[in-house]
Order: sequence, then structure tokens, then C-alpha cells
Amino acid sequence: MHNDRLISNQVINEDDFQEGSLRPLRLADYIGQDRIKDNIEIFIKAARERQESLDHVLLSGPPGLGKTTLATIVANEVGRPIRKTSGPAIERPGDLAAILTNIEAGEVLFIDEIHRLNRSIEEILYPAMEDYVIDIIIGKGPAARTLRLDIPPFTLVGATTRPGLLSSPLRDRFGINCRLDFYTPDDLTKIVLRAAQILDIQMDQEGAEEIARRSRGTPRVANRLLKRVRDYALVKANGLIDLTVARAALAMLEIDECGLDSMDRIILEAIILKFGGGPVGLETLSAAVSEEDDTLTDVYEPYLLKMGMIQKTPRGRIATENAYRHLDIPWSRNQAPGSLFEAQDSGEDF
Ligand SMILES: Nc1ncnc2c1ncn2[C@@H]1O[C@H](COP(=O)(O)OP(=O)(O)O)[C@@H](O)[C@H]1O
Ligand SMILES: [Mg+2]
Repeated sequence: MHNDRLISNQVINEDDFQEGSLRPLRLADYIGQDRIKDNIEIFIKAARERQESLDHVLLSGPPGLGKTTLATIVANEVGRPIRKTSGPAIERPGDLAAILTNIEAGEVLFIDEIHRLNRSIEEILYPAMEDYVIDIIIGKGPAARTLRLDIPPFTLVGATTRPGLLSSPLRDRFGINCRLDFYTPDDLTKIVLRAAQILDIQMDQEGAEEIARRSRGTPRVANRLLKRVRDYALVKANGLIDLTVARAALAMLEIDECGLDSMDRIILEAIILKFGGGPVGLETLSAAVSEEDDTLTDVYEPYLLKMGMIQKTPRGRIATENAYRHLDIPWSRNQAPGSLFEAQDSGEDF
């Protein structure tokens, strides 16, 4: 369902081919996340001085914040090829063993959604990351024996939207741990202006700021809104995006001043009107709004939390006074004592 949403921060097909052209290729072109950039720069330089491969890097944060982009940049900066795969794509231990035995020295192995790696597969990674060896089991039953194989030094870059779901042995083996945060409106404005230039879109500063403000802190959303607003501008305003055009286009797209779209408002309304403001458990809420648990946790909640519209408590999600105000629903201090449903929460990540 979320794929139909304009501000979904998942990759959808249209973006697949254009996201490539908008993706910065070097650290210097990667806007924002300054602390992470500084860190990565220092580690890359140090690895180069020591003539060793870069330490393993874990990138975590909500979708669309630039994890895949950063993985590619790391490979570009160390000047080595990148091999990309993902947790769900690696189905059997043999798949991962095959990848690791084919790796070249210094190569970057990018595993997206690394929290979705099967535990038995994950265990292959431990010695590979630590000692650059893998253990292969040959034969079955009592005759089975383990064969230890050396592999070249490599850099694992893992990306995850749910760092809390990573096992601690895996998490501990990443030397560099980067938590990406939502972007500031200033940084998003720069991202929008840069994208407009690449896509040859006419836009003024105020138009860019308006799109940036409503992009829920997420570059992928900013780029997507920019394309939709461009279409509106072409039809209604000779192609120039200024403040008035940006506002009118975003209103037509039902994106409000906070960057919330209709699904966000449905979620807030459900908590308030169906569950007396909460607390309501994840599964109950996702059933009430017909959305998958994972999508709620990964895509919607991080931004609603960041905006102070909801809070997570041990008993479930509650709507804050901000949410009532935003939806124009009267707030009273004496909320219902909470829903009858207990929270069954998993992995408090962000
Ligand atoms: N720091 C950044 N500066 C400029 N553009 C960015 C930045 N981070 C992300 N983007 C843009 O957002 C899009 C989505 O980023 P991506 O790396 O695919 O996110 P993630 O892997 O975290 O879901 C990229 O195609 C890129 O155009
Ligand atoms: Mg990605």
C-alpha cells in the first residue's frame, strides 16, 4: 500500500532509474550528516595510511536518508569496486559463502536490510568480518568436517532501518557505526536545489525551501515531491517553481505544512478517535489502518515521533497534544485510561 503514497520513502519504480542520476557519488557532494561524513573521511584516510582495508561500516536510519548512497560513496572514496546484495536475497548459507569466496581484496560488500539476514547465515559473517576466514562444512552426519578458507580482506557495509533487530555479535563486529538522522530544512533545501539543477528544473530559493520544509526530513521524499511539483508547474505556471506554485502543488497533493500526508493523518486519527488517544499496540493499530506492522514502524512512525505527534510507551503508542492540535481535535488532560489492548512491541529502534 505504501508504494502508492507520494511521500513513501521506499524506492518505487519511477525513482529507480532517476534516483541514479541524483545520487551524489563523492563524499564532498553528499549534503548534510556532517558528523558521519567527518568520521568516514577520517577512517578512510587512516585505512589508506595503514594500507589496510577500511573497517566494516554499519549505516542505520529510516528509509530514504541516504544509506545506499553512502555505501556507494564509501566504495568510490576507497577506490574499490562495490558488490551489492541484501538480507532477503541471501537465502542459504552457501549463497553468502559463494559471495565471500569470490570477493577481491579491498572490495566493498554492501548488504542492504542486513537485519533480515537469517541467523544461520549471519554466523558465517562473524569469522569473515573478524579474521577474513570462512568455515565450510563438508559432508553430513558423523563424517562431516569443517574446512576453513581464507578470504581477502574486504569491507562490509551493512544498512538497516532497524538496528535494534541486529544480533549483538553482528553489531559488535562493525568498527564504524553511523546512525543517519532526519535532515534539517537547510540541508534539504540544498538537496532540492541540486536536484533541480541536475533535472533542469526552474525554481527559486523560496520554492525550494517550501518543498524542503514538507519533505519529512528525507532526501528521497524531497526529490519525489520536486518531480511532482515540477509537473504541476509545467501545466499551471510555465514551468517555474516559486513559493506560490510550490504551495498550490503541495496542497493539491494533500501534503500539509508539516509534511504529513493522508496516511499519517489516518494513523493519528485512528489513535485519537478509535483508541482514545492510546496507548495502542502496534498490531492493533496496523490492523485499524490496514497497513503492515513493518511499514508503520519503518516508514511512518520515525517521522511522527520526530515531530512529537506520537510517543512510544511500554504499553503502546499514544497521540500527543501536538497531534490533537494538528488535527484540530480538542485535547483534554483526562484522556481515556488507554486502550484495552496491550502493546506487543518489537525492537525500539528510533
Ligand atoms: N546526503 C544526500 N545528499 C544529496 N542527495 C541525497 C543524500 N542522501 C540521499 N540523497 C538522495 O536520496 C535518494 C535516496 O537515498 P538512498 O541512499 O537510496 O536512501 P536509503 O538507502 O537510506 O533508503 C538518493 O537517490 C539521492 O538522490
Ligand atoms: Mg537503500
